[in-house]
Amino acid sequence: MSYPATVRSVGINKIGGVEAIEDLTLPFPKRKPNELLVKVEWGGVNFIDTYLRSGLYPAPFLPLPMTREASGVIVELPSDEALLQSEEFKLRGFKRGGKVAVGNTGSLKEYISVPWDSYVYPVPDAVSTRVAVAALLQGMTAIAQVTESYNVQKGDLVLIHTIAGGVGLLLAQLCKARGATVIGTTSTPEKAELATVHGADHVILYKSEDVVQRVNELTRGLGPHVIYDGVGKDTFDADFKMIRRKGTIVSFGNASGAVPPVPLFKLTEKNVKLLRPTVDKYVFTVDEKNFYGTELYRLVASGELKINIHGEYPFTADGVQRAQLDLVEGKTTGKLLIKVSNE
Ligand SMILES: NC(=O)c1ccc[n+]([C@@H]2O[C@H](COP(=O)([O-])OP(=O)(O)OC[C@H]3O[C@@H](n4cnc5c(N)ncnc54)[C@H](OP(=O)(O)O)[C@@H]3O)[C@@H](O)[C@H]2O)c1
Repeated sequence: MSYPATVRSVGINKIGGVEAIEDLTLPFPKRKPNELLVKVEWGGVNFIDTYLRSGLYPAPFLPLPMTREASGVIVELPSDEALLQSEEFKLRGFKRGGKVAVGNTGSLKEYISVPWDSYVYPVPDAVSTRVAVAALLQGMTAIAQVTESYNVQKGDLVLIHTIAGGVGLLLAQLCKARGATVIGTTSTPEKAELATVHGADHVILYKSEDVVQRVNELTRGLGPHVIYDGVGKDTFDADFKMIRRKGTIVSFGNASGAVPPVPLFKLTEKNVKLLRPTVDKYVFTVDEKNFYGTELYRLVASGELKINIHGEYPFTADGVQRAQLDLVEGKTTGKLLIKVSNE
């Protein structure tokens, strides 16, 4: 098959505000023998895009196409024959024309070439590439948080900050399905309603209610067994007031800014366990990718995990700028997508 010499992309050439996002024309990806070539249909917008664009996290290369995730169709398998015949490769189930979701920094371009053993997941027939990308990073994050950061059990009291967000709505569903009592925080009654539909038992409107006092009442003074906090700087100190003795605080994001360094002695007040995990270090080996990829799309295909898509934005600098602004300004619930090409 013949391919064009260049691909369209949207990304940055320098660190900066949203105005740094521009339309790019990049060379067609050079495929290594161990790589899959994917024709991209969707890109998924995440907070990490804004961290890389603003310099909070270092950009690994420039120009840097935006989006940390994409989905589409495999147009070329690896050219390494020995690899194609290996059991490990066959286990992944990749085939030409097969749908895949890819967790890869710099994915927002018409074609991407990715190592077969990187963050690439086959998508089952029952799941569209649109839903597959919407579920990918936030879904794996949520599954890893309820399984590995703290293994949520029936009867647990769980507090989820920004419960109507992308990760938040998924955490709510997973915790509820495990039999936990789910308490969430959010900014508006509309977002609270959405969280309730997705499994929240109690939603606290943090702009008008005293969160610490409400959590104290709802947990009869004991505090939650676990707090999932993707807000970061603004909520971190209050987490220590709310968490129960021997509870777990999972600080997994920086929507309001990074949490400053914490003195170790802070943990002794209640013998708290504190984690600052990233999904990449939970989903790392080929076995872990098989496990999490299969589990995520099983839950999505069966309807056990509902994927809430906030909106689709065009594959232009203006579209990506608007998506990032909507995300950081807290205007969204669920997932933001960039439509790169037709399914
Ligand atoms: N560790 C990992 O591996 C990993 C992976 C994926 C995502 N994350 C993190 O998870 C968090 C949530 O990500 P998401 O994609 O699901 O986003 P999101 O929750 O859909 O969007 C962010 C929400 O945070 C709330 N918020 C509270 N304070 C805010 C502030 N100062 N500025 C902006 N928003 C604020 C807003 O909801 P309200 O209106 O309800 O306040 C806003 O809608 C992010 O911090 C992200 O970095 C971490």
